[in-house]
Amino acid sequence: MGKKLLIEHANVPGIETLEVYRSTGGYASVEKALKSMTPEQIVNEVKVSGLRGRGGAGFPTGLKWSFLAKPEGVARYLVCNADESEPGTFKDRYLMEKIPHLLIEGMITSSFALGAKAAYIYIRGEYFYVARIVEKAIAEAYAAGLLGKNILGTDYSLDLYVQIGAGAYICGEETALLESLEGKRGNPRIKPPFPAIAGLYGCPTVVNNVETIAAVVPIVNDGGEAYAKIGIGKSTGTKLISASGHINKPGVYEIEMGITVEDFIYSEEYCGGIRNGKKLKAVVAGGSSVPILPADLILKTAKGEPRLMTYESLSDGGFITGSMMGSGGFIVMDEDTSIVKNLFTFARFYHHESCGQCSPCREGTGWMEKILKKFMNGTANESDVDLLWDIQSKIEGKTICPLGEAAAWPVAAAIRHFKQEFIDIAKSKKFIDVSHYNRLNKLVKG
Ligand SMILES: Cc1cc2nc3c(=O)[nH]c(=O)nc-3n(C[C@H](O)[C@H](O)[C@H](O)COP(=O)(O)O)c2cc1C
Ligand code: SF4
Repeated sequence: MGKKLLIEHANVPGIETLEVYRSTGGYASVEKALKSMTPEQIVNEVKVSGLRGRGGAGFPTGLKWSFLAKPEGVARYLVCNADESEPGTFKDRYLMEKIPHLLIEGMITSSFALGAKAAYIYIRGEYFYVARIVEKAIAEAYAAGLLGKNILGTDYSLDLYVQIGAGAYICGEETALLESLEGKRGNPRIKPPFPAIAGLYGCPTVVNNVETIAAVVPIVNDGGEAYAKIGIGKSTGTKLISASGHINKPGVYEIEMGITVEDFIYSEEYCGGIRNGKKLKAVVAGGSSVPILPADLILKTAKGEPRLMTYESLSDGGFITGSMMGSGGFIVMDEDTSIVKNLFTFARFYHHESCGQCSPCREGTGWMEKILKKFMNGTANESDVDLLWDIQSKIEGKTICPLGEAAAWPVAAAIRHFKQEFIDIAKSKKFIDVSHYNRLNKLVKG
């Protein structure tokens, strides 16, 4: 069994309450940090741990924290990104729903390290019930003197707020999130300046993912070195993976970085193999925006080495033969899956979620959806594959925020690895029924 640093106690009855959480050692990192460590020592432990941001980009957390500007007399903020809207990713919801105090503990310890006196948890609108769970836990923490003035009798004070978004994927992009938190439309800002210099209300701000902040708890408790011993190379510690699709055991798993992809898909400890004894066709390893890989390339790199669940191994070969760890949304597809139909659903999503500020993204996402719709309607021609390729290539690197890439990469990868499938559909002129997506949409939207 792999080591679990975050969700080991997730199924302990009552773990969402302060009493039970504390009985499992909860809030020890707050005691340790506030009473025996300096903020600089905590930042250093996080650096030593090698922890990388779990929101998708994998940027080293300690380094990010050390960039935070500290002008005299200016407030600093920690903002937790709990927007989690990337299709295929649901690990942050699991963590907040099951062990809300772990996130709150991480927020207190991290805020102390950053010198923040106010911190925010920005939760997507669709996670309304999760926000209520987190709010309840925050109220318990205030009542126990873990939040508010003079935490645990020290001279450190912190206020922690929950803000619920209105349900827009783009509000997960950190600068759009900050705009939304300020009460404005969630449009991404042009960077620089980066949030570390001018973030929330123009003040220095760190934005971190839920899982990143939760990981600070074991790092402070056991030390950065102990954390860095788990994993391989620059992929240290454990990682939460949201596993979905055609597997026997979908769910959220905490893995030690470095296990093989094959082990993750086929072992009983994790996904338990492909459903109904079918063959594996493809995997989207890190949430809908990362390149899809066919079975042979997800299990082994182009060099023929076993592909590992690490940042480096998943991206080995670049986008020609590799992909990305992303947010850890691991979507498994069996031999019966239509890659083009799946791509159509992704394209619809990105078109719907584009904020519309940049022409390549605003127009390109809509155009790609329209062409993919032709494949569904049986009206596409072979030349539409080249057109799709051309459009996606004109989005990447030409937009304010990476939603442009998030929309372009899945299209490029699907054509790169499954071009024949597009051609076959175009030739067949067959109608592919996707009307149930519209019905689902109506159900979701009411
Ligand atoms: C379109 C878009 C959506 C994003 N959605 C999320 C999200 O839901 N949660 C998240 O943590 N990061 C998301 N990110 C990444 C954030 O911008 C940011 O990099 C992250 O919150 C930083 O935290 P980390 O360093 O702990 O990963 C998104 C980025 C983009 C471009
Ligand atoms: S890339 Fe898309 S989502 Fe991002 S700012 Fe431009 S239009 Fe908005």
